Amino acid sequence: MTKRLQGKSALITGGGGGIGRAFARAYVHEGATVAIADIDLDKANEVAADFGDAAYGLALDVSDRTSIDRAMDHVLQTAGGLDILVNNAGVFDMAPIIEITEASYDRLFGVNVYGVLFTLQAAARVMIKQGRGGKIINMASQAGRRGEALVAVYCATKAAVISLTQSAGLDLIKHQINVNGISPGVVDGALWDQVDAQFARHEKRPLGEKKRLVGEAVPHGRMGTAEDMAPMAVFLASGDSDYVVAQTYNVDGGNCMN
Ligand SMILES: NC(=O)c1ccc[n+]([C@@H]2O[C@H](COP(=O)([O-])OP(=O)(O)OC[C@H]3O[C@@H](n4cnc5c(N)ncnc54)[C@H](O)[C@@H]3O)[C@@H](O)[C@H]2O)c1
Repeated sequence: MTKRLQGKSALITGGGGGIGRAFARAYVHEGATVAIADIDLDKANEVAADFGDAAYGLALDVSDRTSIDRAMDHVLQTAGGLDILVNNAGVFDMAPIIEITEASYDRLFGVNVYGVLFTLQAAARVMIKQGRGGKIINMASQAGRRGEALVAVYCATKAAVISLTQSAGLDLIKHQINVNGISPGVVDGALWDQVDAQFARHEKRPLGEKKRLVGEAVPHGRMGTAEDMAPMAVFLASGDSDYVVAQTYNVDGGNCMN
């Protein structure tokens, strides 16, 4: 059977993290060559090492334009082009409204919004020049579907990702570049361990309790795994999604219906 991403060049930002690793595995399985890009180069290289010649690690800070341009040059030199970008790098923080700091705001908007927009822009310029279309997938969150009392800034960044996905999707489809998003619910892994620890502090709960409660509240009956997200990432990177434009799909076990 033909692999769905055979011969494609993909770039996954935040590729050293849990969801990035699962996406890289799925893309390599479908025949792509994958750049695992992360601010933590050791993590990126460690993930890439699992996939032999089909993947390579590279340093990227998505909140820094120079770093984005350097990473894009690296991809073009290594793989000869770019067909798929996954804007997956993301950071979390939480605080009551009256305690939010400018430093936290700048960090979250710098990575989750600036990073998505300007990595997308750099990729789109390459894809337009290549003239063979492309696929751009932005990682949103159920946090972008509605606000949460303690999570204002992260929620706002993910709402911005959903909005940017719509605008970029509408603007770039004339170049056969599909821009779509994935909105996970609660996915077990390092990020949620950090979220759980922050809830424990703010809500005075024992460690692990919030994680257990959010898992039990998912209609499917459990938290998601990074692997649960990967089939949607393959679909949105493949020709199967050519007619899908500017959408953000919930992959969340039934948590959201909008
Ligand atoms: N885990 C969840 O429950 C969940 C839910 C909804 C949405 N998401 C989103 O999915 C994406 C991946 O989440 P994850 O669970 O794999 O998180 P993770 O923390 O495991 O991975 C995130 C990766 O991004 C990297 N990163 C951070 N800042 C960066 C920067 N400036 N430049 C480049 N890389 C940077 C980190 O080093 C890390 O490897 C994120 O955008 C997150 O907001 C996750």
